[in-house]
Amino acid sequence: MSIKEYQEKIAANMRNWQKIENSGIASTNRIIEKTRNPVVRMVMEIIQRDSEMHHRVQELIAESLEATTVTLSPDELAAVWGMIEEHVKLERSTIELAKNSLEETEKAKGMLVQHYLLEYLLKDEEKHEEILANLDKIKGGMYPYA
Ligand SMILES: [Fe+2]
Ligand SMILES: [Fe+2]
Repeated sequence: MSIKEYQEKIAANMRNWQKIENSGIASTNRIIEKTRNPVVRMVMEIIQRDSEMHHRVQELIAESLEATTVTLSPDELAAVWGMIEEHVKLERSTIELAKNSLEETEKAKGMLVQHYLLEYLLKDEEKHEEILANLDKIKGGMYPYA
């Protein structure tokens, strides 16, 4: 396949994926309407918000492959890098708190719900740290071409 064909294929995948995200959002709404349970409602709200963000990320990917030029330059990254490094410290503090809290729930018995929600938070905070670490990797890969 040519570069253009790969681009079209990926963009088409993003457009299909967005349709699934929309179905997912509708599905979370139906489940939220059906239950008063705060844990189930919270889980469905988390998924709903994530689906909205996924939809936007898919939009950005599709647009970057279609008409709109989406760029990321070393200068643009350098302009905020100090602040991002400070932000990474915040993420690390939250990971420590999540791990510590999880350990406590494991020592005490009968904290299944708290453990379940803390595991979710830990994974999410680790994801925040990782997405910034990966940005650092892109930055490293870009610099020779700057
Ligand atoms: Fe999704
Ligand atoms: Fe975070």
